[in-house]
Amino acid sequence: MDIAYRRLVKNDLKVYRDIRLESLKVYPDSFGSSYEDQKSKERLGFEEYIEQNVFDKFIVGAFDAARLIGICGFFRKVDAERMNAGEIIQMYVQAKYQSNKIGYLLLQAAIEEAFKIAGIENIELGVFTANKSANTLFDNVGFEEYLFHENHLNDRGVKIGRRLMVLSRDNHMAYR
Ligand SMILES: CC(C)(COP(=O)(O)OP(=O)(O)OC[C@H]1O[C@@H](n2cnc3c(N)ncnc32)[C@H](O)[C@@H]1OP(=O)(O)O)[C@@H](O)C(=O)NCCC(=O)NCCS
Repeated sequence: MDIAYRRLVKNDLKVYRDIRLESLKVYPDSFGSSYEDQKSKERLGFEEYIEQNVFDKFIVGAFDAARLIGICGFFRKVDAERMNAGEIIQMYVQAKYQSNKIGYLLLQAAIEEAFKIAGIENIELGVFTANKSANTLFDNVGFEEYLFHENHLNDRGVKIGRRLMVLSRDNHMAYR
């Protein structure tokens, strides 16, 4: 499968919104945000960053020809004492494209882009334990669990297991 990976730009705003809302609708148990809440927003949080091409807050897209079929976001932490870290978010590959290593390559593209930012040493993420495919992928890429929340409350008030994971720059070099 010939898939291209690149940062989303202003021209991608409409398709970004569509695929982000689709991911929340199709996989309500995979994300911290809900479809209903995000759909009601005039603009999604990342639309502004994409539009202004903010260098340390971005979405990498996976494209089948011109069609956006997957996304993976990153943002650098804003607190002064956390400036050396950022977070992977909103990762999604459309169902018919899954299990073809697109998620792996999309994540690697986002990681490469994030470690290009001067001063970024750690990339963090949160994943629900029930999400087998995502957990296997993150483990295989070199993310390490640093905290396990057995009773994390999701947006519908249901208690679920959630792993917080981190990939250091050194570990990334070792796993490449
Ligand atoms: C999680 C998700 C993005 C993965 O996308 P994908 O394109 O199917 O991912 P890949 O094909 O790269 O990986 C799939 C499998 O191959 C494995 N794999 C891929 N590349 C690998 C590599 N280089 N080395 C070892 N294993 C690899 C993964 O661990 C995974 O294991 P599985 O077969 O048990 O699922 C996708 O399933 C998805 O969008 N799910 C719904 C939304 C979601 O859960 N997002 C994550 C929120 S934290």
